[in-house]
Amino acid sequence: MEKYQLYATMGSGFEDVVAKELHALGYETRTEKGRVFFEGTQEDIARCNLWLRTADRIKILLKEFKATDFTTLYDETYAYDWAMLLPPDAAFPVKGRSVRSKLHSEPDVQRIVKKAIVDKMSKQYRRRGVLPENGTLYQLDIHIYQDKARLSLDTTGDSLFKRGYRIEHGGAPLKENFAASLIKLTIYDGTHPFVDPMCGSGTLPIEAAMIAKNIAPGLKRDFSFDKFDWFDQKLHQNLIEEAKSMQTPAQAPIWASDIDQSILEVAKLNAHNAGVLQDIRFKQVAVKDFKTDLTNGVIVSNPPYGKRLKDRQGAEALYEQMGEVLKPLSSFSQYYLTADQKFEDFYGKKANKKRKFFNGNLPVIFYQYWAKWN
Ligand SMILES: C[S@@+](CC[C@H](N)C(=O)[O-])C[C@H]1O[C@@H](n2cnc3c(N)ncnc32)[C@H](O)[C@@H]1O
Repeated sequence: MEKYQLYATMGSGFEDVVAKELHALGYETRTEKGRVFFEGTQEDIARCNLWLRTADRIKILLKEFKATDFTTLYDETYAYDWAMLLPPDAAFPVKGRSVRSKLHSEPDVQRIVKKAIVDKMSKQYRRRGVLPENGTLYQLDIHIYQDKARLSLDTTGDSLFKRGYRIEHGGAPLKENFAASLIKLTIYDGTHPFVDPMCGSGTLPIEAAMIAKNIAPGLKRDFSFDKFDWFDQKLHQNLIEEAKSMQTPAQAPIWASDIDQSILEVAKLNAHNAGVLQDIRFKQVAVKDFKTDLTNGVIVSNPPYGKRLKDRQGAEALYEQMGEVLKPLSSFSQYYLTADQKFEDFYGKKANKKRKFFNGNLPVIFYQYWAKWN
């Protein structure tokens, strides 16, 4: 089977988490900022889209070359065998990005690449005038970094964080792949209790349950590659069947609670859609009243963070309650994501480790408190 140069994209700071997932799937990888490269066949494209919990997209690297002028950019793009990739009616928008490069005008880079592909396709398919572009979507991408140009094709479509289980309700839920990445940074592996005492719409416990049950995150959605005319569609179907047969029962309790009953109803619907409703115990309870007889587990939670002063004070009072109620659960490793830089002061303990990320545009800190399991 033909091998492709592939890469996964991800949020900044999650390269290692994605690389680890790829290693677990059996791939050798090479990491750059925001990208993890690997090699694979069509089956691997389907497998990675289906199984990667923490990546954004899987792309095929079509061609790499140095380009410091538009003639080279045009010629190198034109030289690619586009008719092998794109049928005559393909819709092929081109996204352009250029960073620290001579060819710095992104609209021009995008326009030249598009023109080169249109010219080549017109020649290869003996078409005059405009191409119809009313068929399957092939999202292309030209990325130039320090004069090195990369042409790629997106195989994913809607970003991988869209698992297909979430109902829209407003609010500010964590993205599914962001939640999964946070869990992958903890010691959770499905064999010990998982608790989220401020679960909101349930993203963290649902992702934990999917990990615990070995549910492939992409099982409920389709991908761009499903429509590519050169893609062997049996491969995806076979992998779906295989993934279904690989599901296991959850081995340890998963608890999710929140003070707000209405958001818990949303969480339950999401859990139902994800096929994990029976695996999560949802309960309306405020942190100050939280009790558990579970031991040797993990708490992963994303408490509120107030941007305005009044909300901030409310959030910080809650962090103090967390210090009173959750901190004494000494057999639980605890992990909290918040934008509050003073979280440790209110919680009353210095974290063993802190990791910084962006949640959208908001800088956030993942505070980690490690416990020893008995
Ligand atoms: C940032 S949201 C969590 C979002 C969640 N991770 C998701 O993906 O949907 C914080 C949650 O904390 C809950 N909360 C606020 N104060 C609380 C309290 N005192 N006890 C328990 N939950 C509380 C809110 O109702 C809200 O759902």
